[in-house]
Amino acid sequence: MKPLGLILSLLSASFSLAIARCARHSTITRSCYEKATPQQFPELLELHKSLVEIPSVSDSEGAVGRFLQDYLAQRGYTVYAQPVEGGDGDRHNIFAYLGGSNRTQVLVTSHIDTRRGTELWGRGTVDAKGSVAAQIAAVESLRRGHGIAEEGGDVALLTAAAAWRRLTTSVSGDGRAVIFGEPTEGKLARGHKGILSVSLAAAGKAGHSGYPEPGANAIDTLVRGLASLQLAELPRSEEFGNTTLNVGVIQGGVADNVIPAQASASALVRLATDRVNDTIAIIERAVHEASPGVQTEFPYSQGPVPIDYDVEGFETVILNYGTDIPNLKGNHKRYLYGPGSIHVAHSDQEHLDVSDLEAAVQDYSTLISKVLTR
Ligand SMILES: *[C@@H]1O[C@H](CO)[C@@H](O)[C@H](O)[C@H]1NC(C)=O
Ligand SMILES: *[C@@H]1O[C@H](CO)[C@@H](O)[C@H](O)[C@H]1NC(C)=O
Ligand SMILES: *[C@@H]1O[C@H](CO)[C@@H](O)[C@H](O)[C@H]1NC(C)=O
Repeated sequence: MKPLGLILSLLSASFSLAIARCARHSTITRSCYEKATPQQFPELLELHKSLVEIPSVSDSEGAVGRFLQDYLAQRGYTVYAQPVEGGDGDRHNIFAYLGGSNRTQVLVTSHIDTRRGTELWGRGTVDAKGSVAAQIAAVESLRRGHGIAEEGGDVALLTAAAAWRRLTTSVSGDGRAVIFGEPTEGKLARGHKGILSVSLAAAGKAGHSGYPEPGANAIDTLVRGLASLQLAELPRSEEFGNTTLNVGVIQGGVADNVIPAQASASALVRLATDRVNDTIAIIERAVHEASPGVQTEFPYSQGPVPIDYDVEGFETVILNYGTDIPNLKGNHKRYLYGPGSIHVAHSDQEHLDVSDLEAAVQDYSTLISKVLTR
């Protein structure tokens, strides 16, 4: 390796390390970003830092929305803040485009809320503020290189406060393509699994634990059903792999010396086939054969979602998480790409390498350009 090349690669390795290391602490310090300032996309790290520093747990995304609104308006975009119902009443989807027409060939979109788990919640470094920062930097870099028309019509940016499904009426993709940003480890998604939510409930008869005979233990009934459910063989497919099941919530009982009268659980199935009804039938059979007293309900389902990946030069991947892609209707191509890994998103280990963020800017630029020149 030539000395210059060596120095450059050492520098870039230390940039990557810097953010990853800093991000392990609960707040990213200013010096993390200073140590890691890249030359290629001047706005990238500053923007990412600003986005990550503004909290935006789902249902209260007001501040980060206003920041983006100002940021984009200052750069000459026409910005429309679409109010979103729910949450603390101060949340907006930010829709931005160049020129006077909001009808564009490409819509580039991601979400700005950071998901709240039951115990841990990520700061959104990866999911999905990495995508938002890289998408904006990509559009800005294309503008600088005259890859998109300054007078508009090519690209619109949409940052959703919570869910794209709220946008279907106002921004359905009439253009050629919508590019979605979620963590895909820098790969182009060929599709993602579907979802089936399962609610289970058992009713019993309360009583004193010392005298079990007249009572009926709802927890015992439920647990027998759950144990059988976990052994059920769910349909798989070549493209999407195994259908998997997670029992994520279990509730019931009041005290260890009282026979519980109620117990319930909920599970989420990640569907690898669109045979939703078959999967429901398998689950019902497994639960009811082992424990007839358990009631099952299936409040929500969505089959696996195939996604376009007809752009050369990308590794591709099937993702096991859901997105709102099926909710954005329209006759357009759909691409899904983003920096970072879902394995660290939503946790206090959430972090992103600067090199991945920079690669994402390049890749979003490529995707946008390829669609525009078709
Ligand atoms: C797009 O522009 C049209 C015409 O000006 C307008 O009716 C519509 O509300 C706009 N939509 C958004 C999301 O800005
Ligand atoms: C899918 O399930 C089969 C059978 O249970 C298992 O052997 C295999 O390792 C699973 N594949 C993946 C990718 O988890
Ligand atoms: C699945 O079951 C529902 C409810 O029973 C029914 O309305 C629907 O048509 C079924 N879908 C298929 C593909 O069989």
